[in-house]
Order: sequence, then C-alpha cells, then structure tokens
Amino acid sequence: MEKKGLRVNGVLRTVIHDPDASLATVLRHQLMLTGTKVSCDTGQCGACSVLVNGKLTLACATKMSRVPDDAAIVTIEGIGQPGALHPIQQAIIANGATQCGFCTPGFVVSTQALLEKNPSPTREDVRTWFTQHHNACRCTGYKQIVDATMDAAAVLRGDMQAEDLDFQMPANGSILGTNYPRPTAIAKVTGTLDYGQDIGLKMPAGTLHLALVQAKVSHANILGVDTSEAEKVPGVAKVITAKDVKGKNRITGLITFPTNKGDGWDRPILCDSKVFQYGDAIAIVAADTPEIARAAA
Ligand code: FES
Ligand code: FES
Repeated sequence: MEKKGLRVNGVLRTVIHDPDASLATVLRHQLMLTGTKVSCDTGQCGACSVLVNGKLTLACATKMSRVPDDAAIVTIEGIGQPGALHPIQQAIIANGATQCGFCTPGFVVSTQALLEKNPSPTREDVRTWFTQHHNACRCTGYKQIVDATMDAAAVLRGDMQAEDLDFQMPANGSILGTNYPRPTAIAKVTGTLDYGQDIGLKMPAGTLHLALVQAKVSHANILGVDTSEAEKVPGVAKVITAKDVKGKNRITGLITFPTNKGDGWDRPILCDSKVFQYGDAIAIVAADTPEIARAAA
C-alpha cells in the first residue's frame, strides 16, 4: 500500500491505495466519485476521462503508481454540478448530445481539455480530438456532440450567451417537434446518474455480489449444470441456475423479426436445455465479494 495526497477538484484528499489499482478505482471505490464512469476498463472508450495536472487522462488505464503525489485531479464533479452547470454541460443538453449518457462525463472532461488548448476549434478539430483521445459514443452518432462542443466554445469565447442554450417553451406549450431536453439530461451531463456499477458501490454492507457464468460456445445442448465445485468456494452463497428462475424462464424478443415463427417466448433468461449464442447466461454466482463471485464463476 502507498499513501498519497491528491488535490481532487481543489480539495486535498489523502488516499491509501494499492499502487497497482487504477486511478478510476480509487476515484470511484475509495473517494466515491462515481461521476467518472468505467465502460471498457481497457483504455479504449474515454468514459473514464479525467484531468491529471491538466492533462487529459484515461483513469482506468492509469495505475496509481503513475499518479504523482500532490497531483491536481479534475473529475466531472469538479466541472459542473446540477444547479451550476458548465457551458459544456449546458450545450450538451441543448443539442441532445446525451442519450444513454454513459459516455457523457468523459466527453465533458475531454471537451474541457480541448477548449482549454484550442478555444476556437473547427468541427474537424473537434472530431480529431475525440478520435485521438478515445472518446467513443454508441448512441448519438457524434454530430450532436460536435454541435455541442462548437456551442460551448462560442459561449466560453463570449460569442454566444449561455442563456441562448436554454430551452424556450413554444407559446402553444407543445414540446412536439422541439429540442425539449430529455428529463435525465442534467444527471447525465453531471455524472450524478447512477448506473448499475454505481448503485453496486452504494449498496449496504453485506450485499452479495453477482457474477455471470456465460457460454463460451455459440451453440450447444445442455445436458446438465454442475454447481457443486463453485458452491464449495469459501464466500459463495448461492449458484443460481435456470431451476431457480420462477415462471417460464423465458423472455420475448425475437417476435420482432418477421422470419420468427414462434410466439416470441423462445429465449431463456438462464439457459436450460440449449445455448443459443456465445455469451448466453447459464448461471449466476452470488458471493461475498466481486472477486470471489468472478473466481467461482
Ligand atoms: S473505461 Fe477507461 S477508456 Fe474505457
Ligand atoms: S450517449 Fe450512450 S454511449 Fe454516448
């Protein structure tokens, strides 16, 4: 273990950490700054972007041993909060540039770094920056994010008023066909929306952790599921299989394909007799820690 002082969003925080732990883990698990999201956890997607001594940094791919003592770290929480949004966050809301929102805190931090370096980027500069800094978005198609970045830059230069980004309710009161902000937008642009991994960190002590057993083949008939070895692992509370699923153990889905001949209730929640595709869920291990659950799975 090592001890470090970090100036996180302007506040000195002392952390005792595993030098091999990632900066993202320390921010999220120890300092509970869950606005920094972790998606790929391998330095590919930019969801975990933070500033370390002013440099845009992928927190998931940065070991604590590489974070200097007394480093100044800015996370999404240090850029803007609900009720005190930064123009970048306002522009993202105004342009509909957050959908699921998982990538959004990373884009906000990355945009902040871009506009500090280049206050008047072209659209091409913006695209190049996000490409070079690994900011990926699966939802928006990027145009809205580029639009938002251009608007935020204009506000920060003083070429546009932040109020111009506010939604104006039409005189007839109808939001149909307008840019009415999605209700969750503020939580998404500030990182205050809790996703599954965030809720997992905020559960009461003693809450069990789950890990999936997933198929490693694309098709198979299941002759049986032997849970005995996993159940012997110390710390494992239960291995859940199809037998434990109440009801018909089926979800609908393929009914939407015109070629589907069934009634739609054709895919199991947990595989019972067949594996349909690589990654299908076969069992769930519940254990005292995520590490034990993953090891037993
Ligand atoms: S979570 Fe860090 S780059 Fe994807
Ligand atoms: S808004 Fe969903 S990944 Fe970007």
